[in-house]
Amino acid sequence: AKITFVEFDGTEHSVEAKNGASVMEAAIRDSIPGIDADCGGACACATCHVYVDANFMDKVGQPNDMEQSMLDFAENVESNSRLSCQITVKDDLDGLIVRMPESQA
Ligand code: FES
Repeated sequence: AKITFVEFDGTEHSVEAKNGASVMEAAIRDSIPGIDADCGGACACATCHVYVDANFMDKVGQPNDMEQSMLDFAENVESNSRLSCQITVKDDLDGLIVRMPESQA
């Protein structure tokens, strides 16, 4: 699935992500700036925070309890905030756009 990452300054990066990987892993593989992922995907750092594009909110869905409690520690959390290590790539998400927060600029 094609995923577009938009840095806080507006710079866009599109990657081809494999089904079953996380959105965070797709970013790291292509060295996308703005996804730090300090904890390596364990839902324990909140440095892979992204804002999901409004058109994809239904497909991406809501965070589970563990992710939500980690998001409580993140800065500038919005209703479309997710941790990208907790979003699994699938065909449905082709064209997904996620934006990075200022804290990861
Ligand atoms: Fe640490 Fe996602 S990589 S919470």
